[in-house]
Amino acid sequence: MLDRYNRNIHYLRISVTDRCNLRCTYCMPGEGITLIDKKDILTLEEIVDVVTTGASKFGIRKIRFTGGEPLVRKGIVELVEKVSSIDGIEETSMTTNGILLTEYAAALKKAGLKRVNISLDTLSPVKFSTITRGGDVEKVKDGIIAAREAGLTPVKINVVKTEVLDQEELEALKSYCEHNKLEIRYINQMDLKTGTFSKVEGGSSGHCASCNRLRLMSNGNIKPCLFGNHGFNIREFGIEEAFKLALDHKPLKGKINDNHQFYNIGG
Ligand code: 5AD
Ligand code: SF4
Repeated sequence: MLDRYNRNIHYLRISVTDRCNLRCTYCMPGEGITLIDKKDILTLEEIVDVVTTGASKFGIRKIRFTGGEPLVRKGIVELVEKVSSIDGIEETSMTTNGILLTEYAAALKKAGLKRVNISLDTLSPVKFSTITRGGDVEKVKDGIIAAREAGLTPVKINVVKTEVLDQEELEALKSYCEHNKLEIRYINQMDLKTGTFSKVEGGSSGHCASCNRLRLMSNGNIKPCLFGNHGFNIREFGIEEAFKLALDHKPLKGKINDNHQFYNIGG
């Protein structure tokens, strides 16, 4: 569907949960995280309804599941299966931290998921544990291989440029990706509150002029833009009206978002 600036909006990013099994420093505060109330989290049925309406009435064709960490959401495989089979949906993908992929990769592929982006900011176990506040990099590496073997390809690796990314680390990640046939994408750290955003090298975000996306938060808010406070809740407005309002409020260019963080919008 075309928005006010003639951009063809056909991509919906769905944050299925704001919970995560890691605590990356650039994504979550160390303590005092305000999680969305359980009762405010959309049911799987509601998410399916949003996509069905999005596809039939608003031209949504592409879906990406994000979080928090999408694989900690109960019923995620079932959700992927239902969403992937909705009329009009051409492609479903997922952004995950990879920790649970050894367990889920084959089932996700079978459910219709086409491919995954996996976050990996360093190969060093010590640095990884620091950035993620306790995560095990070996689990992610196993998850990456599991995804490739399952055919969730092309597997893309998201590298957020943090303090630990020196020249040596860059080279190590680059050769790891080459060796394992993975596409690598570098992401500049963003700050929603100050409006510090940047395009993903090798990715499609950050080009406001050709932005094709809307976001569905796990509490049912449809957001026109990551860098803006607007959100229209499907439980308040109904699905169709929330889509219309989000499209009508999609800005020409993103500015500042000072009431959300990455773990509840999904990046
Ligand atoms: N800046 C940039 N990207 C971020 N992500 C989370 N927090 C930030 C941030 N502050 C993105 C990264 C990560 C994904 C899960 O979310 O791409 O890989
Ligand atoms: Fe979790 Fe991803 Fe945020 Fe890290 S960046 S805390 S893995 S949601």
